[in-house]
Amino acid sequence: MYRGRRLRKNAVIRNMMKEITLQVEDFIYPLFVVEGENIKEEISTLPGVFHYSCDRLEEVLDEMCRYGVMACLLFGIPAHKDACGSQAFDEDGIIQRAIRKIKAYCPQMQVITDVCMCEYTDHGHCGILDEDGYVNNDKTLNYIAKIALSHAQAGADIVAPSDMMDGHIQAIRSLLDTHGYVTTGIMGYSAKYASSFYGPFREAAHSAPSFGDRKAYQMDYANREEAIREVSADIEEGVDIIMVKPAMAYLDILHDCAQRFHYPIAAYQVSGEYAMLKLAIQNGLLHEDAMQESLIAIKRAGAKLIISYEALAYAKSIKDGIG
Ligand code: PBG
Repeated sequence: MYRGRRLRKNAVIRNMMKEITLQVEDFIYPLFVVEGENIKEEISTLPGVFHYSCDRLEEVLDEMCRYGVMACLLFGIPAHKDACGSQAFDEDGIIQRAIRKIKAYCPQMQVITDVCMCEYTDHGHCGILDEDGYVNNDKTLNYIAKIALSHAQAGADIVAPSDMMDGHIQAIRSLLDTHGYVTTGIMGYSAKYASSFYGPFREAAHSAPSFGDRKAYQMDYANREEAIREVSADIEEGVDIIMVKPAMAYLDILHDCAQRFHYPIAAYQVSGEYAMLKLAIQNGLLHEDAMQESLIAIKRAGAKLIISYEALAYAKSIKDGIG
């Protein structure tokens, strides 16, 4: 008889047998930066996650450094929106100021910036609209590349386009290279699904589309093969890190991509996954270990990097020996 329980007898042997462990280096922590001063405000849809104004970023950066979370994914929420999202590539836009601030205060922090237009357009879509409301792919590419360049100029280490336009990696790579930013990396939201799990984020980033949905650019959640084509395209265009998003309901996709592509791969535990777990834990429906279980599952499925709203809290729990 196979007696698997021999190696589960006590905590020490169980720890010795662990195949997957999380470490702080696995994590990327999303940061939301808003206009204004002296703002640190909890986001109602994301318990434990805050909006920061630029002048209050030190607090969270200090904590991140203390606990070893040395990578952030930056989102800017502008005060002014228009049809072409002009604040997204403004030299003095909210995200550009935040990048400069973070790199000045904490040069080792890896600043990864979300490159998209939905927080910046008055219609809330991720690109430039045709008259009939369709997001025009090739017109949008010019803007996406321009936004990425402005982030690189402000000091971003890695740009992360989340718009799902065809050809965006190539458009960004060539504009960055032409301007001498050959060392700026690109993390592609390569397999990004049109998901209801982004709900809490859209509240947090004021980025919900004012009409329709994102199904004409983000992927259909019924599709698995298509992810291979999307990731392959990003790789051909010169992406450095690939990503699958969301994570928990897409572990099959993550596993497929991790097996097939020998590229660094990130998974995004998105707002809805985090909020769902967090609220269930807060209400006593789930034990708090459910969060770690979910994060381990993401790594077990093949993620090298995990973008998570829990990153900082998790790093604290590792360091304080609670995890
Ligand atoms: C911007 C963007 C979104 C997320 C990351 N970048 C929202 C969307 O595509 O609607 C979602 C992140 C999350 O839910 O945590 N396009």
